[in-house]
Amino acid sequence: MPNKTIPFTDAQYSKFEEVDNYICSYLLQQDDALESTLKTNRGSSLDTIDVAPNQGKMLYLLAKMNKCKRILEIGTLGGYSAIWFAKALPSDGKLITLELDPKHASIAESNIKNAGFENVVEVRVGPALESLDKMAKESPEPFDMVFIDADKENNVGYLKWALEFSHVGTLIVVDNIVRQGRLVDLENKDPSITGVREVLDLMKREKRLEFTGVQTVGSKGWDGFAMGLVIG
Ligand code: SAH
Ligand code: DHB
Ligand code: MG
Repeated sequence: MPNKTIPFTDAQYSKFEEVDNYICSYLLQQDDALESTLKTNRGSSLDTIDVAPNQGKMLYLLAKMNKCKRILEIGTLGGYSAIWFAKALPSDGKLITLELDPKHASIAESNIKNAGFENVVEVRVGPALESLDKMAKESPEPFDMVFIDADKENNVGYLKWALEFSHVGTLIVVDNIVRQGRLVDLENKDPSITGVREVLDLMKREKRLEFTGVQTVGSKGWDGFAMGLVIG
């Protein structure tokens, strides 16, 4: 069951889950690596906040559509979304994924190795803002896609770095913009919510971005994502 702050009844959450399971059973051939990653993650201390399988497949399709060769992910957890991205990359492609918690990073590295992607994925451990600052000193080639999915209070900082490391055509996806509807409870000033409002505000003001936001219900409850294309 998703983390819910009650906007829906249990019966409604069950229905969202049932529909997701139905869709996933038809549309997704999850390979062994993805399935065993979820199994490993559930058997560990990690929160159940990996992207849903159908969202993972969507990220994979977006990366493929955009012929991505270099992807940046902020927030690795157990590497589930990272493995979806790795599957979309060519063999000479690269995913750099940033994770604060060394325990999460080590679970992710083991899942990624199991999936055979240890040469494609690099997990960098530490507070992402510090890792990004360090990365800037390496003058990295721009990324073709950036997935922002870590601590929501730093979303604005992450989007600024994403723009810094982008080229025209880079796709930027920000996860978890709805947070069970808390987005629009304007008296809710929790930094994990204000961080979402602030990143949407920056997307709106940022002339280099065209973007949209989509709310979703499913096995992860009620949430959503924003997606922006760098146009200038
Ligand atoms: N993208 C993953 C889910 C990420 S969950 C997937 O879909 O499979 C968010 C992750 O961000 C957690 O593992 C958390 O430890 C990490 N995180 C939180 N604060 C962070 C920070 N300041 N820097 C880097 N990672 C952070
Ligand atoms: C949370 C974080 C996530 O990345 C997510 O997908 C869902 C929930 C959280 O911190 O609650
Ligand atoms: Mg998320």
